[in-house]
Amino acid sequence: MLAARSFAAPARQCLRQANKVQRFAPAFTRTYAVAADDKVAKFKGTKGNDGKFTVTLIEGDGIGPEISQAVKDIYSAANVPIKWESVDVTPRLVDGKTSIPPEAIESVTKNYVALKGPLATPVGKGHVSLNLTLRRTFNLFANLRPCKSIAGYKTPYDNVDTVLIRENTEGEYSGIEHVVVDGVVQSIKLITREACERVLRFAFQHAESIGRKKVRAVHKATIMKMSDGLFLSTAREIAKDYPHIEFDAELLDNTCLKMVTDPIPYNDKVLVMPNLYGDILSDMCAGLIGGLGLTPSGNIGDECSIFEAVHGSAPDIAGKGLANPTALLLSSIMMLRHMGLNEHASQIEGAIFKVLSEGKTITGDLGGKAKTHEYANAVIKAL
Ligand SMILES: NC(=O)c1ccc[n+]([C@@H]2O[C@H](COP(=O)([O-])OP(=O)(O)OC[C@H]3O[C@@H](n4cnc5c(N)ncnc54)[C@H](O)[C@@H]3O)[C@@H](O)[C@H]2O)c1
Repeated sequence: MLAARSFAAPARQCLRQANKVQRFAPAFTRTYAVAADDKVAKFKGTKGNDGKFTVTLIEGDGIGPEISQAVKDIYSAANVPIKWESVDVTPRLVDGKTSIPPEAIESVTKNYVALKGPLATPVGKGHVSLNLTLRRTFNLFANLRPCKSIAGYKTPYDNVDTVLIRENTEGEYSGIEHVVVDGVVQSIKLITREACERVLRFAFQHAESIGRKKVRAVHKATIMKMSDGLFLSTAREIAKDYPHIEFDAELLDNTCLKMVTDPIPYNDKVLVMPNLYGDILSDMCAGLIGGLGLTPSGNIGDECSIFEAVHGSAPDIAGKGLANPTALLLSSIMMLRHMGLNEHASQIEGAIFKVLSEGKTITGDLGGKAKTHEYANAVIKAL
């Protein structure tokens, strides 16, 4: 009786999950309606009457406000034609689901672009990660993670310059999980041709825009023959639309092994991969250049894109003026390039690299003694 009862509930749950997957079914055969030369995730914003773009700023929690202030100070000194629109994304539970305030959604939708500080995920309040909620709310399908060595900051390898693109919406992180019977759980890795196609197209187009001639898909299609198989076969199809870019594929295990042995051969490629592999491999690349504190990222979508530092809210040093704003600054530079403000991007990037390579005014995490605002002032002087 007990066994029958404990099976009945999971079975119902299984059925519900199966129906949920069934509802996705039409998407499996759909193709992403974008022609080869249509630009994926093109920035649609325009300058206002004052000659400035409005950018949504999510300052975030913990050290978020301190590092955001550094960005604002440097941007104002560099006369970047941007007006910040600060929004609060403190999560609300609506019908048991984590959602962000409508004003924040409106702001990002209207401005097409946002810069985001770290968000602390509330523990034990029934919320899912706010970062995940943002990605889902705005359908930010690609996570772009460049990792470039910083001169003056010594790590085991010099001159690392990797570019990883991770599918950001499905795969192992689809969130379709259930208990089959007590002690047995199932997690569904959902992969659709539509999501593969848009992230792959973005990878080829990004390679073009940064002048790289090679795109490599990273996969485990030898084991996950259908799911990764679909990612890989879609990659081979999309590659035909970009004949001037060399395409190849590599098994995830080989990529990991080769990257930690010698990352330099990856400097001429853009790597693109399903969600979980991208999550792990991009953090591994961050380790190659000295950790998450220096690593920028962009969450790219067709309607809008959100740029953010990869590190968390660092509650242990919040409010003490010790935070390093470099990762948020470098994320903002990716944002400027996305918006076509290339000259301002290069000017600020040059100043950051100059201050870091001199090593005189750097923050504690990099072995220096400077406070956040002292580092920001040094960057302003170097502009
Ligand atoms: N993208 C995001 O918004 C994001 C990412 C990761 C973690 N988080 C959240 O952040 C909170 C804290 O997470 P955590 O402690 O695991 O990771 P964390 O990245 O906040 O901190 C890890 C360590 O790195 C240091 N650190 C991080 N950023 C730094 C910076 N800019 N300058 C100097 N030192 C820095 C911290 O002081 C700490 O010692 C959690 O609530 C977590 O959910 C948010």
